[in-house]
Amino acid sequence: MNRFATPISPAFSLCTTYEAHDPVLLDGIMPYVDFIEVTPDTIAVSRNGSAHLHPDILDDLKRAAKQLKIIAHGVGLSIGSYDNWSADYLDLLQMLYNEVPLEWHSEHLAYSCVDGQNLNTMLALPRTREMAAIVVERIKTLQNRFPIPFLLENISRFLPDYPPEFTEAGMLNHLTSETGCELILDLYNLECDAFNHGFNIRSFLHELDLNTVREIHIAGGAFLNGFQLDVHSNKVADSTLDWLEFVIPQVPNLRVVTYEILPQAVKAHGQNFVIEELARLADFLNIHKHGTTSVAARDFSNA
Ligand SMILES: [Fe+2]
Ligand SMILES: [Fe+2]
Repeated sequence: MNRFATPISPAFSLCTTYEAHDPVLLDGIMPYVDFIEVTPDTIAVSRNGSAHLHPDILDDLKRAAKQLKIIAHGVGLSIGSYDNWSADYLDLLQMLYNEVPLEWHSEHLAYSCVDGQNLNTMLALPRTREMAAIVVERIKTLQNRFPIPFLLENISRFLPDYPPEFTEAGMLNHLTSETGCELILDLYNLECDAFNHGFNIRSFLHELDLNTVREIHIAGGAFLNGFQLDVHSNKVADSTLDWLEFVIPQVPNLRVVTYEILPQAVKAHGQNFVIEELARLADFLNIHKHGTTSVAARDFSNA
């Protein structure tokens, strides 16, 4: 079924998260990925009362940068807090930007701070014109400060919506068209919303301007007390791969597909778990770097 006339992207790469000093993991993943994604807040350490980037992880990233491309993916900016975003996060991003060549950086369309208090989670923003105007202004500030592309990511929702003036896709379309920023499309987050709230993924994807998607996130999570949780702790489920296969032909500017896994999950499962999953995903996507095994090509042109 070819719903969209746009041709498939000729090339995209595999990427994964790297957030702990783990040279064995780094050496193991390098044959399968062209990019690694690092979270400045996660690799931060406190020194003399202020936050710095972990020096060993910085060294790992500099070593990796000789062979791979690096992406920054923040969790602590809180781009939608009414009273301001996190200056501490911006300092960390600046440090990373100064030390390592970054292809692009990204954050979540969310807030994680209220009245200066960190909620230790990300909550969805009200989809109102007032909120959109705040976020547009802040995206433009980011774009002026960091001359690399900036991407926003859709998050999964825990709480009921404030009465919206935009649909989910409509809000993202508004932000990309007003600022020129691009998107991370997190398919696992969409699945969480579908399971927890009956969210209609298909109509969301139909409405979203998929030309603005540069990166896709996939992950494997867990279920607890009847909820599907946005934790990156497992292999990617078949249902997520089905959505990936469905959406790729509709994303002409796709650069990377990122397998997200938490450092705690790497510790629990072991490095081979991640390396084997990347090998499986590379096979699924038919992405093969020099020296890795090839399998029959997958045809994404008719999903
Ligand atoms: Fe994310
Ligand atoms: Fe994600």
